[in-house]
Amino acid sequence: MIKYLGSKRRLVPVLGELLTRAGAKTALDLFTGTTRVAQEWKRRRAEVWAIDTARYAEVLAGCYVEADGDHIDRDKLGDALSHLDNLPGVDGYVTATFSQASRYFQPHNARRIDAIRDEILRCWTGDPLEPVLLTALLEAADRVDSTTGMQMAYLKQWAPRSYQRLTLRQPVLLPGPGHAVGGDATVVAAGLPEVDLAYLDPPYNQHRYFTNYHVWETLVAWDAPEYYGVACKRLDARDASTRSVFNDRRRAPEALARLIADVRAATVVISGSNEGFVGVDDLVDMAAVRGHVEVMSFDSRRYIGAQIGIHNLLGEKVGQVSHTRNVEYLICAGDPSLVRRLLDNEIDLSPAVATAMLAS
Ligand SMILES: C[S@@+](CC[C@H](N)C(=O)[O-])C[C@H]1O[C@@H](n2cnc3c(N)ncnc32)[C@H](O)[C@@H]1O
Repeated sequence: MIKYLGSKRRLVPVLGELLTRAGAKTALDLFTGTTRVAQEWKRRRAEVWAIDTARYAEVLAGCYVEADGDHIDRDKLGDALSHLDNLPGVDGYVTATFSQASRYFQPHNARRIDAIRDEILRCWTGDPLEPVLLTALLEAADRVDSTTGMQMAYLKQWAPRSYQRLTLRQPVLLPGPGHAVGGDATVVAAGLPEVDLAYLDPPYNQHRYFTNYHVWETLVAWDAPEYYGVACKRLDARDASTRSVFNDRRRAPEALARLIADVRAATVVISGSNEGFVGVDDLVDMAAVRGHVEVMSFDSRRYIGAQIGIHNLLGEKVGQVSHTRNVEYLICAGDPSLVRRLLDNEIDLSPAVATAMLAS
């Protein structure tokens, strides 16, 4: 899985458990990013729609959500990966832009990224393996990059991992149907089928994914864009079309309120943060149009189990929502009995879930 700002690694077990408790057979991950939530739901046998504006997120969803692991020819995939992994490097856009004009990759890896990406374009465009091979390349490049996990800048000194040889690994594909949709959630959501459970995890603040992950955008688009600045960001990062309403403090609350109200799902779970543009109290107000609302909160080191109303997921009585540092929230809204069931302390949590929530 790529390094990703706002990725919900620690919340995945909780979101998986919520799907199971809701008895959801269909689910929507509306800001899917790395697709880790969608993957967990697919692992639990739901049919998932994964949406994001980022082109690399659509590729990741094409691999992990849309591709049916039972229908991908593993021999063909293995052969393709070993062919690509053995290609000699060539000088291309990545070498010139992300290794010479900037320092995201060491030259030996940049040249191989150029060769592998060209070959995927030449041999697998439109093939069912295309998103799987692109995912393998993105993840391999992520393992040897020289950043802190964002691409607004690169490290002054090469990261130790950047010296390693870029190596393609086979992504772990999941069986079953699924759907990868590239597009703006505020536009796409209305046209999707109604689902049992939807998860909304929009950007919380002004940090743009298009600029923070411009290298991944370019690796997928493979359009050799003009660039600007020390970070060599794509010139189209300046276009209004690459901006998200959720990065705009003034417009984000209204857009989010409308999406929460309109999304076609029986139960809606919304992520929030105490550092976001929209506070938890406002999120609760927005979610109230869907029926009953419950809130879970998680701080950066431990599950603190705050809820508005009743018990936390571990069955403990809790007080008011805490606003201590780096708190993340899951706001659950929908039919009262169903939402209460989601947080019902009489449903046993597996040790793995409890451990994940309590882990620092
Ligand atoms: C907080 S991240 C989601 C992280 C994801 N849940 C995970 O665990 O990896 C927010 C995502 O929203 C996407 N995004 C931003 N604006 C969007 C929009 N208007 N419609 C759809 N996706 C959008 C970004 O590309 C980013 O991947």
